[in-house]
Amino acid sequence: MNYKEYLWWHKGVVYQIYPRSFKDSDGDGVGDLRGIIEKLDYLKDLGVDAVWISPIYPSPMADFGYDVSDYTGIHPLFGEMKDFDELLTEVHQRGMKLILDLVPNHSSNKHPWFLESKSSKNNHKRDWYIWKDPGKDGGPPNNWLSVFGGSGWEYDEKTEQYYYHAFLKEQPDLNWRNPDLQQAMLAIMRYWLKKGVDGFRVDVMWHMIKDEQLRDDPPNPEYKKGMNSYSKLLPAYSTDQDEVHDIVHKMRKVIDEYDERLLIGEIYLPISKLVSYYGEDNQGAHLPFNFQLLQLPWNAARIKATIDEYEGALPENGWPNWVLGNHDNSRIASRVGKDQAKNAAILLLTLRGTPTIYYGDELGMQDVDIPKEKIQDPQALNEPGVGRSRDPERTPMQWDATKNAGFTKGDPWLPLMVNYKEINVKKQWDQPGSMLQLHRKLLKIRAQEPALHVGNYLPVLSQDGILSYIRKYEEQQFLIVLNLTDSEVNFAPGFKWTGTVKVSSHEEFEGKEMNDKINLPANLGLVIKLE
Ligand code: NOJ
Ligand code: MG
Repeated sequence: MNYKEYLWWHKGVVYQIYPRSFKDSDGDGVGDLRGIIEKLDYLKDLGVDAVWISPIYPSPMADFGYDVSDYTGIHPLFGEMKDFDELLTEVHQRGMKLILDLVPNHSSNKHPWFLESKSSKNNHKRDWYIWKDPGKDGGPPNNWLSVFGGSGWEYDEKTEQYYYHAFLKEQPDLNWRNPDLQQAMLAIMRYWLKKGVDGFRVDVMWHMIKDEQLRDDPPNPEYKKGMNSYSKLLPAYSTDQDEVHDIVHKMRKVIDEYDERLLIGEIYLPISKLVSYYGEDNQGAHLPFNFQLLQLPWNAARIKATIDEYEGALPENGWPNWVLGNHDNSRIASRVGKDQAKNAAILLLTLRGTPTIYYGDELGMQDVDIPKEKIQDPQALNEPGVGRSRDPERTPMQWDATKNAGFTKGDPWLPLMVNYKEINVKKQWDQPGSMLQLHRKLLKIRAQEPALHVGNYLPVLSQDGILSYIRKYEEQQFLIVLNLTDSEVNFAPGFKWTGTVKVSSHEEFEGKEMNDKINLPANLGLVIKLE
């Protein structure tokens, strides 16, 4: 591709905001749109290019906004439409982009569509959801499970049928085989795109179509006691059906009615299946989210193999992307520890492809222990002791050392990390060697150097816990060397090279000239510009 053909989302960095936890402007303990507006200068100065906000639509909040009751409104907790319009304008004024979360697989059970659908078997919206007669024994139509525990089917006494819900029973699945539903959801996309929204992150894209014959899912041979109940079966028929690609393509066509808009898909599938979501001739999702770094053990050989597998599996002109954290998974600084979290940041921001940073990870925020009585997440409440709580990675952003880390003047909806007086934006902004400084440097150099934002990826070696690769664009080359262990190792790639360290996990290395062989102290990460 010619340099000019790369668009903002190829070159840029996405930052995910979980709006409940970013910044509260009105003291109700829950983050809101005006709070985000207040912090846009921070995001701009940090150096990110696009902001994706988790759902802000009206919702009964059974799943904290992923149960939408009005797809074209704003929840009063977050503000009003005029706040949203202002947010969009302010984001654009700073040269950034705004990505919304679209939740098309299911609505809230309080959505007027569902209320109508539920009202009678003859209602014209009956078929907008997945209603089926009971199975032979009067029980659910088949064995499909809910991700949040128990059967995926809920019985409705009045109309004597079951409806399917892949998540909570308060989140009935929409029927994407119905053409009217399809048109309604595509119209919702146009509503936001017309306003000027720059794209969507589509929730659970691989769930959108289920087997028409409703065949039972097979038992999972790997299931063990103590795992969540959803793992009992392999979702072979309830997810990732071929026809989903027609739906994604239809969404993409809507996106393409507008200039330079972006379609991201949330998809938890192995690489071989994930890449099918780019669609035929790349006419599907621009970026099927790649969650490999969320799932792999922190091991150089495994990561190296996965990068190669992913690079090798990408369709021609399919653009890669990497995600290191999100609101559904334990934070990186808790998964790999504080020291390696720095290397993880270097990795995320120097691999080939669009990176997504989860809010707070730029500070090294860790999972927060939530006392039992304060648990909010339905995934944990539904299956106590088995369903993993997602609250720990959803705690308030740590802005400064004042009460509640400057997040709210009220009572925060989730408790804060106890060490927020040490780990916060204000303290780390200019603090040498801090996680935030590292992010600022990485984001800056990534934006400046074509080798880092569009360059090729060339594996160098992975051995003794070292992960190393080159990013190259025309004559410019960067050598990345990461010691993913906590002991000293030697790096000797077997070719001659000379370069200067531009960014390092250990800032005392920055500016040093190096060549050929190096002794890598524990946990060291280097971004070296080659001569
Ligand atoms: C994926 C979202 O990221 C998660 O937070 C939500 O609970 C489920 N989809 C259901 O919408
Ligand atoms: Mg608020």
